[in-house]
Amino acid sequence: MPYPLRTPRLALSPLTTGDIPAFVAYRQDTDVARWQGWDPSYKEADAAELIASQPTAELPSPGGWLQLAIRNPEDGTLYGDVAIHSLDEFHDTFEIGVTLARSNQHRGIAREAVTRVLDHLFTSANAHRVTANCDTRNAPVAKLLTAVGMKKESTETDAEFSKGEWITLDNYAILKTELPPKP
Ligand SMILES: CC(C)(COP(=O)(O)OP(=O)(O)OC[C@H]1O[C@@H](n2cnc3c(N)ncnc32)[C@H](O)[C@@H]1OP(=O)(O)O)[C@@H](O)C(=O)NCCC(=O)NCCS
Repeated sequence: MPYPLRTPRLALSPLTTGDIPAFVAYRQDTDVARWQGWDPSYKEADAAELIASQPTAELPSPGGWLQLAIRNPEDGTLYGDVAIHSLDEFHDTFEIGVTLARSNQHRGIAREAVTRVLDHLFTSANAHRVTANCDTRNAPVAKLLTAVGMKKESTETDAEFSKGEWITLDNYAILKTELPPKP
């Protein structure tokens, strides 16, 4: 297994039951949940169910999700997570999502974590294409996806009904051939 994936400030490895209190705490934060599929009523039992359903393999099988914890490598503090979705329709194509606890935002942590996950997917997992989508109003994630080299390819108007309203999604993607050179 390649985990933990390391970066200068971070260690990324599958979420464990020990992460539940910190994971639930940020999923219950109204600001963090605003553009996500869950809402602040998220409970420890929901997290336990999610963790129990995690794949034990390096990557999820087609259609499945793997939730990687973003941690402080020194003391294991959970900063947030990067989710990897193996798309079942297309060979070697993955979707990603990222979430940080509010106290860990604006420090470049998401950028560092997503850059490492993209490198892992394209080099170790031989991915061809990685995608991400977000509500058009979610400016921080748009900035992050652009910063890691992803391009906005399309916008889907009223693509989903979430939290009592129709939401419009921006779709981002990057190909293996577009991965920025390592510094
Ligand atoms: C999306 C999300 C992960 C982005 O987090 P973020 O911390 O803004 O993203 P980055 O890691 O790119 O950090 C960039 C910020 O860190 C600052 N920064 C500080 N040190 C830095 C460093 N060493 N390297 C890079 N940026 C650094 C940048 O200046 C920038 O600041 P700004 O936000 O004031 O402009 C975060 O907003 C979040 O968790 N939102 C809630 C969940 C969500 O909606 N997720 C998206 C669903 S797809």
